[in-house]
Amino acid sequence: MDKSVQQRLAWAITGSGHYLRESLSILQSLDDVDIFLSKAAAEILKQYGFQAQLEATGHRIYQDKTASSVPVELFYEGKYHTLVISPATSNTIAKMAYGFSDSLVTNLFAQAGKTRVHSIVFACDTVPEIDAESIVSEAPRENFVKVYPRQIDLDNAVKLAQFEHTQVVENMSQLQHAVMQRLADVHQTGTKEISIESQ
Ligand SMILES: Cc1cc2nc3c(=O)[nH]c(=O)nc-3n(C[C@H](O)[C@H](O)[C@H](O)COP(=O)(O)O)c2cc1C
Repeated sequence: MDKSVQQRLAWAITGSGHYLRESLSILQSLDDVDIFLSKAAAEILKQYGFQAQLEATGHRIYQDKTASSVPVELFYEGKYHTLVISPATSNTIAKMAYGFSDSLVTNLFAQAGKTRVHSIVFACDTVPEIDAESIVSEAPRENFVKVYPRQIDLDNAVKLAQFEHTQVVENMSQLQHAVMQRLADVHQTGTKEISIESQ
């Protein structure tokens, strides 16, 4: 039996306090999104007191609870036109840059690549905002800490940007623009409506 499926946006959140608030705020403004949390993200959201904000987005939430990352099956079914990973920790960036797929989020990225789904990644700890070296990162309970990105983190983000079907953005305004542009492109080319064969 044929069934028509409306493709959606997949948005993965990793265990970063930096730019978590801002990522949730963009998520709140979007429709037709499924959210995927790394194990660390599920903890950090609670530590920062953002659980209610996450739930208020109204989006379906998938957690990292299985060894094989069962939710990646949704990519095989063609359910998504785009994967966004924001905020992406240094840990997840490093794993993705070297082709690891041993967690839900790194599996989503690998499967997006293998099924030629466009990915937009915001590596949260790479670009200085205040001066040439450090960035200001939000800690729990609205405290702020100065963070100095390591060379390895910068190198991994550059390496990831060379992947096929992958766009690495450097700040929230680039992220918002990339997501809006992608949604406009998807609507324009009419690829939102696809037909899959159910078994
Ligand atoms: C309060 C708190 C804030 C954190 N913020 C960041 C962050 O901004 N960037 C980062 O790369 N890691 C951050 N971490 C560390 C990650 O959560 C940790 O590396 C974790 O293993 C990442 O797992 P994931 O990449 O699978 O989400 C934070 C940890 C804690 C406890």
